[in-house]
Amino acid sequence: MIVKPKGTYDLYGVDEKIYSYITNIVDDYMINYNYDKIRTPIFEDSELFHRGVGETSDIVTKETYDFQDRSGRSVTLRPEGTAGVVRSFIENKMYGNRSDAIKLYYNGTMYRYERPQAGRFRELTQIGIEAFNSDSVMIDAEVISIGYNILRELGLEAVVKLNTLGDTESRLNYKKALVEYLKPHIDSLCEDCRNRLEKNPLRILDCKVDADSEVLKNVPKIQDYLNDESKKRFTDLKNALMGMGVEFVVDPKIVRGLDYYDHDVWEYELVDGSLALGAGGRYNGLVESLGGPSVPAVGFAFGVDRLIALVKNKVKDQTLEKNIDVFIMSVNEEENIYALKISQELRLNNISCEINSANLSFKGQFKQADKLGAKQLIILNSEDLAKGLVNVKDNQTKEEKKVDESEIVDYISGII
Ligand code: HAM
Repeated sequence: MIVKPKGTYDLYGVDEKIYSYITNIVDDYMINYNYDKIRTPIFEDSELFHRGVGETSDIVTKETYDFQDRSGRSVTLRPEGTAGVVRSFIENKMYGNRSDAIKLYYNGTMYRYERPQAGRFRELTQIGIEAFNSDSVMIDAEVISIGYNILRELGLEAVVKLNTLGDTESRLNYKKALVEYLKPHIDSLCEDCRNRLEKNPLRILDCKVDADSEVLKNVPKIQDYLNDESKKRFTDLKNALMGMGVEFVVDPKIVRGLDYYDHDVWEYELVDGSLALGAGGRYNGLVESLGGPSVPAVGFAFGVDRLIALVKNKVKDQTLEKNIDVFIMSVNEEENIYALKISQELRLNNISCEINSANLSFKGQFKQADKLGAKQLIILNSEDLAKGLVNVKDNQTKEEKKVDESEIVDYISGII
């Protein structure tokens, strides 16, 4: 038997319904917030992720699916959505002469060669949003609140863990202070931390191995190294979020694993502090570093796979139940032909229905109709059909009525 690749899963049944339920809610939200959908390729030129996500990030150094195509081009399965959207934004000159915010969202599979475990997959699905062309904290607050509100709508009590990495000047000063502080203690930290000291010292702050060490508990805090402008920006953002009623906690350990962020970064976590449900931040330098003009941007992405399991416990059974309008019952060839004809008319008139396509017994069809939540039954029999009539039975009240076959669409439309 050929089995699915490690770290992937098939989405069907209830889980697929939950996935569609989540994406429908997001699609509705995005209309309210005036975001347009974008689809970009699943594979891109490898260089995009090396330059975009960052040479020192775990994602690029350890987790990308890189391969050469048959012409020897180096391509990579996208590990995340932001770099591809930025590439498309630049290539299609979406910035044009616009001075308004350009707001995009996406939904698709990403690929990371991670060690599969609960909530961590090699093929993962993200729903992400990216807002370009505005440096105002209004857009940061809007973007953060979208994720927060969607999680609430899904019944999940999530909190925003918020931090700032400041602007380039603040970050450089902080990195310097951090390296000076860590250097004398570095031998007591794990191998990953030792490797990160020179290349990406900020990542040491969110190390899971050394999280409880005294060394990391006493590290200098970025808040003490922010210049006035970065400080003001962070205060304005916190005030805006408070005004909107978005619950957040400032967590200096949130530094993010991708290299492109500056200013605010955040993660959505369940109140019990388990896996991150989503994460994002501002990335004002990325568009320019990928060859575009200097355009500020901010965004986040949810891990949909993680949401599915959680939402499954929350949604009412009703949301997942099948609820077709009509089940058409037939037992012989003549009735089957009528069943097909009537089903065609109903479906083309936007009435959902099912027929006896698996040749079930009369009793079996009643059971099947109940399983599908059919509101009405059309019970065909040759005698009535010869007179141009069909039997319609209300599956709740059990009342029956003979209806002229030529009027069946109007009759059903009137009662469902
Ligand atoms: P990220 O933190 O790498 O950020 O991923 C965002 C979310 O995707 C995570 O919070 C998590 O829920 C989910 N996720 C990541 N890896 C896995 C995995 N292996 N299995 C299941 N879920 C996973 C980004 O990808 C950025 N592009 C977000 C962003 C958008 N920043 C600005 N704009």
